[in-house]
Amino acid sequence: MISFYFKLWAIMKYPCRLDKYLSKAKLISRSDAKKTIKNKRVMVNQKSVTSTQFAIQEIDKVYLDEQLLDLHEHAYYMLHKPAGYLSTEEEAGHPSALSLILDETPKLHSAGRLDIDTTGLLLLTSDGQWSHRVSSPNANKFKQYRVELADAIDDSDLAKLREGILLRGEDKPTKPAIVRRVNETLIDIEISEGRYHQVKRMLAAVGNRVVSLHRQMIGEITLDESLQPGEYRRLSALEVSYF
Ligand code: URA
Repeated sequence: MISFYFKLWAIMKYPCRLDKYLSKAKLISRSDAKKTIKNKRVMVNQKSVTSTQFAIQEIDKVYLDEQLLDLHEHAYYMLHKPAGYLSTEEEAGHPSALSLILDETPKLHSAGRLDIDTTGLLLLTSDGQWSHRVSSPNANKFKQYRVELADAIDDSDLAKLREGILLRGEDKPTKPAIVRRVNETLIDIEISEGRYHQVKRMLAAVGNRVVSLHRQMIGEITLDESLQPGEYRRLSALEVSYF
């Protein structure tokens, strides 16, 4: 709980210490920001300020070398990725899911990847540290997929998926998965790693084949049911704070 409130505070803008404001606005380290302030290069509302702890309020105008600074906040979105879109930049004539977000201010990238034919929850952000935490296996957050299979799946195959499976060309089995059968050829699977084509390869390892794959959840963030394929919305502060 403490960590939640701390993160909520950390993404709030104001009041903000001058050195933090400068380091965010110019993407420089906090110590470089401090030196810049001490060197009398910063003005707040036309007055020179040399205190690194000076509290900036939302109405204040901050200048570096007489140039007004613009503090870009990071952007965080959830997108219902349609099939046929890459989660990376556009390539070989395939459109990028990034092109679906009509927000040209921050440069966005996806937090984790989905195959071109996989649909569902894709998180997009301009915040590299946040996306790193989302994709890090150390975060130990489960990603949930709904999987349609070519063949009916039996209990012994479900047990193998739950225990962990040695994938072709790898030397360590997958971490235990949470698996629930929805019907004979439909399962929900939750995995905490993000190996290359992991779900498809896990099902191939038990002699089955994935017909369609749809991501429903990443950690505590669930794909909003009201979002149609191609639609998106900003994440709430609470959702951002989960990572
Ligand atoms: N596993 C896969 O095989 N593909 C995806 O897109 C995501 C997980």
